[in-house]
Amino acid sequence: MGSLVNKHVLMGVTGGIAAYKSAELIRQLQKAGATVRVIMTPAAQEFITPLTLQALSGYPVHTALLDSAAEAAMGHIELARWADLILIAPASADFLARLCHGEGGDLLGAVCLASSCTIAVAPAMNQAMWANASTQKNVNNLNSRGIKIIGPGEGYQACGDVGAGRMEEPDLITDQVKALFTSNLLDGKKVVITAGPTREALDPVRYISNHSSGKMGYALAVAAVEAGAETILISGPVNLQAPERVTIMHVVSAQDLLDASLEAVVDADIFIAAAAVADYRPAHNAHQKIKKNDDNISLALTKNPDIVATIASLEKRPFTVGFAAETNDLENHARKKLNNKKLDLVIANDVSNQSIGFNSDDNQVTIITNDSTEKLPLMSKGTLAIHLIRHLASCVSK
Ligand code: PMT
Repeated sequence: MGSLVNKHVLMGVTGGIAAYKSAELIRQLQKAGATVRVIMTPAAQEFITPLTLQALSGYPVHTALLDSAAEAAMGHIELARWADLILIAPASADFLARLCHGEGGDLLGAVCLASSCTIAVAPAMNQAMWANASTQKNVNNLNSRGIKIIGPGEGYQACGDVGAGRMEEPDLITDQVKALFTSNLLDGKKVVITAGPTREALDPVRYISNHSSGKMGYALAVAAVEAGAETILISGPVNLQAPERVTIMHVVSAQDLLDASLEAVVDADIFIAAAAVADYRPAHNAHQKIKKNDDNISLALTKNPDIVATIASLEKRPFTVGFAAETNDLENHARKKLNNKKLDLVIANDVSNQSIGFNSDDNQVTIITNDSTEKLPLMSKGTLAIHLIRHLASCVSK
C-alpha cells in the first residue's frame, strides 16, 4: 500500500474518551510520512490537552474560529487549503450531525465547509448513540456525499456497554487513510510528466531561468503513481525530493528536456508538460566567463524547441496535456496554446497572482479542451494533482 509522504493531514479531534487515541494516531500518520496539523473542539480539550497534541504533531493546535492570533498565523481558510485530507478522529455523534448539516459555527465545521479535499471520519460513541436512527441517517447522508466513514469497531466500551461504536485502532485508520490516496484508475498506463524550470547557459557560471519550483509537476507525479500508473518524471533543477516509485530523469536545458521526453514517451498513454521551459536560449554559450568590460552588452537569443508541441506531433502520440501560464486574458491565451500546439487538453493558470502558480503551495486552474471549460476552485497543489489525474484517467479510459 502507498505511503503518506508529502501528504498534509488535518486532523480534527472532537469530544469523547477515544480522544486519547488521537495521540497514537498522529504518530502513526507521521510514521507513514504525513505532516499532521490538529484542530480540537472545546469538548475534545476536556479529554486530552492541546499541549499533548502540539508536542506530538510539532505544530500549534488550532482551537478557535475567532482567534485573531491564530487567524494571522494560519487562519481557517489557509488550513482548509493546506489539507490534502481532513480526518476527524474521533468523530462524535454531535459533530457528525453538525457536519451533515453544514454547520460552520466552530473552527472544525468551518474548515470542513471551506475545503475541497477529501474528508474522512472515524466515529466514536456509545453503541446506542451509534445505532440511533438520527445518527445512522446522518452517516448515510455523509457517505452519499463522498465522506469516507472509517469504522466504528465493535467491542467493550468505556461506559461498560458492548457493541459497535468504538473508534477504530490507529493502525487500521492509518491503513485506510493510505488507501484513500491510492486507486487503480491508471493501472497499466504509463504517464510522463515534465516539471520545474530549465536553465539556459550564458557562460560557465550564468544562466537564464524562471521561478518554477517543480511543486506542481512533482505533485502530479505522486498522484499518477498513486493511481497505479508507471510514472516517469522529467525534472529541471529543483530542490525537491524524488517521489517514491517514480522514475526520475534529471535535465537542465530545454534541449535536454526534449531529448529526455522523446526517450520517455515511447508507449506512454499520457504526457503532462508542467515544466516552465525557457522559450529562448542564448545564441552563444561562452566557454569562458563573460568579462565585465563594457557598460552595455546585448544578448542574442535563439528559440528553443517546443517540447509539448513536438510530443503532440508524434505519429503515435500520447494524450498530450499542456499548462498555460498566463498573466492576462487567461482563457483566450490558453485556447490559442491548445490549438497552436495541437494539445488534447490545457490546464490554464493565472501566474499574475503570486499565491497561485509559480513557487506557491496552492494553485487555481481552469481545465480547457476543444469543447469544454471547467474552472476548479483554489486548492493545494497536492489536492489539485489528485483532481487532475482523476480527470485525465477518465479522458484516457473513454
Ligand atoms: O513549478 P511550480 O513552482 O509548482 O509552478 C507551476 C507552474 C506555474 C510552472 C505550472 O503550473 C505551469 O504553468 N507550467 C507551464 C509553464 C509554462 O511554461 O507555460 P507556457 O504558457 O509558457 O507554456 C505552455 C506549455 O508549453 C507548457 O505546458 C510548457 O511546458 C510547454 N512548453 C513551453 C515552451 C517550450 N519551449 N516547450 C514547451 O513544451
